[in-house]
Amino acid sequence: MVERRQLTDEHVALWREGCALLEAVGLREYDRGVSARVTDERVKERLKGTTIAPNQERVASAPLICLILGDLNGHNRLEGILDETVHAGLLPREVADVWFTMANGMYGSDPRLARDEAIRSGSLAAMTLMLAAGNRGYVSCPIGFNPVQVMEILSISDHYVPVMMLTVGRPAFGNNPRRARLPVDQVLAFNTSHDFLTLRIY
Ligand SMILES: Cc1cc2nc3c(=O)[nH]c(=O)nc-3n(C[C@H](O)[C@H](O)[C@H](O)COP(=O)(O)O)c2cc1C
Repeated sequence: MVERRQLTDEHVALWREGCALLEAVGLREYDRGVSARVTDERVKERLKGTTIAPNQERVASAPLICLILGDLNGHNRLEGILDETVHAGLLPREVADVWFTMANGMYGSDPRLARDEAIRSGSLAAMTLMLAAGNRGYVSCPIGFNPVQVMEILSISDHYVPVMMLTVGRPAFGNNPRRARLPVDQVLAFNTSHDFLTLRIY
């Protein structure tokens, strides 16, 4: 749960920090993550009705809800993004041209790959935003949701795929302690086959 307190003055700073971290991991190459902030109380109440788990009061009471969207047409915007990098002297024009042609060939001809990549990039964007929130003393929580309902409520264009809904706020008294995690030997295989791997690595 999050304490009910408006964060409005700090929203922008949070996103700026999240976006700076995104650039640090190189996501900007394809710029597929797009994000929306939800602060309107009535919209938050409606979003609460889209959650998979029942009674997700945290959605209605969170000062801020972040919805991370993947852009299925992100490659269309790549040219402008690469131009900025070229003009800044950070990338040779010939390399930018090769990247642009390659990205348009790959994503333009394969909607499934474009969707997978949008979800991959959006997931990284969400985790980065959660880390940025944590750095600023906030707590955040991913929320399972019905994407069709969310797209309708927020009038999201269908070239976006909703990747993650996050509640963000300040820690409230009485939050649950962190739950147990799987031990490393159950999630890591090193040069050997392992029960959880369908692909055997030798
Ligand atoms: C994809 C995903 C969906 C989640 N959906 C919900 C949710 O609908 N409601 C909720 O309260 N927490 C949800 N969580 C959060 C987890 O239940 C859990 O609180 C979180 O992973 C942090 O765990 P910890 O409190 O043990 O650190 C979700 C987490 C993930 C990764």
